[in-house]
Amino acid sequence: MKIHMLGAALVVAATGAQAQTVGFSQIGSESGWRAAETTVTQQQAEERGIDLRFSDAQQRQENQIAAIRSFVAQGVDAILLAPVVATGWDSVLEEAAEAEIPVVLLDRMVDSDESLYLTAVGSDLVHEGEVAGQWLVDNKPEGECRVVELQGTTGSSPAIDRANGFRNAIEGSDDIEIVRSQTGDFTRSGGKEVMESFLQAEGGGDNICALYAHNDDMAIGAIQAIKEAGIAPGEDILIVSIDAVPDIFQAMAAGEANATVELTPNMAGPAFDALEAYMADGTEPEKFIQTESALYTQDDDPMAEYEARKDLGY
Ligand code: AHR
Repeated sequence: MKIHMLGAALVVAATGAQAQTVGFSQIGSESGWRAAETTVTQQQAEERGIDLRFSDAQQRQENQIAAIRSFVAQGVDAILLAPVVATGWDSVLEEAAEAEIPVVLLDRMVDSDESLYLTAVGSDLVHEGEVAGQWLVDNKPEGECRVVELQGTTGSSPAIDRANGFRNAIEGSDDIEIVRSQTGDFTRSGGKEVMESFLQAEGGGDNICALYAHNDDMAIGAIQAIKEAGIAPGEDILIVSIDAVPDIFQAMAAGEANATVELTPNMAGPAFDALEAYMADGTEPEKFIQTESALYTQDDDPMAEYEARKDLGY
């Protein structure tokens, strides 16, 4: 396969080759969902006979940039990038393009020109926030509902888009108000710590009607904080979050969480399919390959959902 930079556009002449060696710059292991995405990517590579070179950036963009440069130096056939934040990728993506190496984005977006990557596999992150917000609009108790929000990593596309989507959904509901919003960095410990401060600031929790967490791990940490404060999560404070990891289904089965929006950890399958077709005969994938965002509630047999997911690498 040959790729040439033509102005800002990536132009590729297919040679019928398949990706043999793929570099994967992963963000880290901040959440159960992230661990599952890593596992699934490794499984997908193994099934296809791909030599996957894995790099864990431990949440740092500079580590991801160094990993991409190292993949370029190694001469890999393609690069998978799950970008920790949305900005700051232009230079390194240009370097990959100049080295004729296609890059596929996984689960998060960048603000670079789309000619600098082959395709992006992910969910509609704004829609996820809208689904979560609509669940609250439809299920909140009568009267005023004061919401606290645990945001994902600052500057990451899911944190930006899930915040916006939720606000879109509650826009027409004058009795729903986001009273506190802070990042918990997509981690359980972050979710617990920030929720403790929310509870303290909001009358020990008496003034909070619902928690919206940008991922399940932060919700699980927050549930712990709520229980330690002597309040009933899922009843006194409604809990809606995103990912659909096994542990949130256990919390839902126990009545301690109310709703989650699924994000599949299988981003690599569609990514490798797109790379394979592209390398075989130059088939251009869509610029965005969208995964589903299904809503699950306590009515959806949470224990069955837990059983179906518990051995999938979360
Ligand atoms: O980019 C996807 C998000 O990143 C997941 O929702 C979250 O769990 C992870 O850390």
